[in-house]
Amino acid sequence: MNLVILTGAGISAESGLATFRDLGGLWSQVRLEEVATPEAFAADPDRVQGFYNARRAQLHQVAPNPAHEALARLDAAWDRGDFLLVTQNVDDLHERAGSRRLHHMHGELRRARCLACGADSPWQDDIGPDSSCPACGVSGRLRPHVVWFGEIPLGMERIEAALEVCDMFVSIGTSGRVWPAAGFAAAVRRRARTVEINLEASDGASIFHETRHGPAGRLVPQWVEEMLR
Ligand code: OAD
Repeated sequence: MNLVILTGAGISAESGLATFRDLGGLWSQVRLEEVATPEAFAADPDRVQGFYNARRAQLHQVAPNPAHEALARLDAAWDRGDFLLVTQNVDDLHERAGSRRLHHMHGELRRARCLACGADSPWQDDIGPDSSCPACGVSGRLRPHVVWFGEIPLGMERIEAALEVCDMFVSIGTSGRVWPAAGFAAAVRRRARTVEINLEASDGASIFHETRHGPAGRLVPQWVEEMLR
């Protein structure tokens, strides 16, 4: 059985990272047009870097929760078919929990991309106007490795190839409001079993064959135990 799992901000909520669209979420504190578009970066790079620098720094204060850990157990144990964990999250909690077959479709906070040479490199600290690219040495041209609104998510070919052959698609902790991820369940539901695990019914909940509503930290380990039985 080939598995594709999609995660969103809800899986990291119990680790202490804010989601985007819940009450008090990131997009109620700051306008996404001012920090999460190429136009915002062109207009006010310091503000945009500041937003992502703060989120990168916050990663030092959080740790994976039982939902991340359960998905890493499933990754390590799953030998009954293909496995791909696609995350919309830019945090590194899946990899810190031990996930290996993992794809960050919206990029990673702990990487930086160089606008001079195009390379992307691991990056732990703030990105500032004097930061230089580890690959080409040019300074002042690094941007967050995060996909902004209006940009194409990373590795869509890899995701589409996995979706085309998947037998089960599981969506965890995502509101289903951001495309293309919001369309994955509808794209596979004729062939694959589709399952939603989320705190509450997402916008696209009616598309799924099965829905389980409650905190990911409780429901994901339960679901993983069932899969490994
Ligand atoms: P959202 O904030 O839109 O949705 C988070 C979902 O997680 C909501 O449906 C919540 O009900 C659910 N949730 C909250 N706490 C939970 C918990 N403890 N257990 C399970 N579910 C919980 O976040 P995303 O769907 O990830 O993109 O947002 C998608 C994209 O929009 C993000 O990747 C980001 C954002 O703008 C970019 O920045 C490009």
